[in-house]
Amino acid sequence: MTSKRVLVLYYSGSGNTRKMAKAIAEGMRSTAVEITLEEAERLDISSLPNYDIIVMGSPTYFSNVSWQMKKVIDESIVHYGGGKLKGKVAGIFTSAGTSRDGKDCLKMLELALGFHHKMKVVEGILRVDGESDREVEKRCQEYGKRLLKEMER
Ligand SMILES: Cc1cc2nc3c(=O)[nH]c(=O)nc-3n(C[C@H](O)[C@H](O)[C@H](O)COP(=O)(O)O)c2cc1C
Repeated sequence: MTSKRVLVLYYSGSGNTRKMAKAIAEGMRSTAVEITLEEAERLDISSLPNYDIIVMGSPTYFSNVSWQMKKVIDESIVHYGGGKLKGKVAGIFTSAGTSRDGKDCLKMLELALGFHHKMKVVEGILRVDGESDREVEKRCQEYGKRLLKEMER
């Protein structure tokens, strides 16, 4: 059986979202998947349809995603017409100063991937500045496992 391909894509200004991305990837580690952990600015947009699960994370900037992640989202229009991402499992995450603003950022990701691209978005997770690293790591690892389960359904 060929293994499923997972992309964990993130941007991080000061490292918090990067830590989340790494922990989500750790949680997904399994013989059944091949995981690519990639920074948003390094993504080759044409590669997106090659993945079975796409996980996207951004810091919350002004209640939204950072421009680096918005650029990826805007460029993903090339896959919109043919519905190339439709039906794939998506994960979304953010690190924010406050949970209220983090939820707004998650909503933006959900709209892009779920409403527009018609991906199956698994309810996102957020980290709030000041939370213990250990707790966040655990939440992220569990989220990775949940995404794998969703793919197997
Ligand atoms: C330019 C900028 C804008 C931000 N805007 C918000 C915001 O609107 N709401 C919020 O709760 N936190 C905001 N923050 C705080 C970050 O979301 C938070 O510190 C986050 O953990 C940073 O993640 P990172 O380390 O991955 O860059 C902002 C930070 C920066 C640098």
